[in-house]
Amino acid sequence: MKNKNYFGRGITSIEGTGWKFNKNVSNQFDKHVRQSIPHYDDIQKYICSLSEWFLKDGSIVYDLGCSTGETAKNLFKKFSKIDFKYYGYDLSNEMIKIAKKKNKKNLKNCIFNLGDINKLKFKKNSRVFYSILTFPFLNSIQRIQLYKKIFKSLDHGGAMIFVDKIRSKNSCYEDIFNQAYFDFKIDNKLTHAQVLNKSKSIRNAMQLFEENEIENFLKLAGFKKIEPFFRWFNFIGFIAIK
Ligand SMILES: C[S@@+](CC[C@H](N)C(=O)[O-])C[C@H]1O[C@@H](n2cnc3c(N)ncnc32)[C@H](O)[C@@H]1O
Repeated sequence: MKNKNYFGRGITSIEGTGWKFNKNVSNQFDKHVRQSIPHYDDIQKYICSLSEWFLKDGSIVYDLGCSTGETAKNLFKKFSKIDFKYYGYDLSNEMIKIAKKKNKKNLKNCIFNLGDINKLKFKKNSRVFYSILTFPFLNSIQRIQLYKKIFKSLDHGGAMIFVDKIRSKNSCYEDIFNQAYFDFKIDNKLTHAQVLNKSKSIRNAMQLFEENEIENFLKLAGFKKIEPFFRWFNFIGFIAIK
């Protein structure tokens, strides 16, 4: 009999099956994400601010691993006067359902689809690719393939704006930063058991790389202008302009 682990109200995973963004996770996601991604609302604001330099009438943007469509909601609120098209993709049907409900006012220009971001074909001349904390679920081969497709799809001057979780260059910092992250979760009212169970369940789901490895993947794909815009311990936001 497999054990059920509890991460927060209604958020579960079954031991041995790993972390799944299933119905339980999706329903509690908006609360859970703020308990487990440091500065989540600030990151959303930074992404919207950076977008001022890129979004214009006719722009096509993608959001890879869009979850419940929070980035879409913020973009359409901030850029209500710009006529752009947003495509959000996620592997979880439940997340997509919630994203559509949350963005129901804008569904003409805000298209959510169920899809594996490793298998997508992107339109030509897209303007921005967003991705908040979805790349940690990809391995190095998947990352390089995806970054190449993104580079090819972007128009000249377009940008990839993403947030990632990294490994420290020095193991002593890895230890300190991970503990600081656990403290953040405890301060945000997750229990010790929830923190431990979550980190156990994602063991086989996440692949983390060092900052310079990520920059190298981006360079291999063709990006030359790469800059971090956010850092909190081992969480990092990058912008890479074509
Ligand atoms: C940490 S959440 C992303 C949070 C979201 N970007 C936000 O800003 O609220 C990771 C999401 O990536 C999705 N995901 C993971 N691997 C995926 C893949 N290969 N293709 C599409 N979505 C994926 C998960 O279903 C989950 O919704």
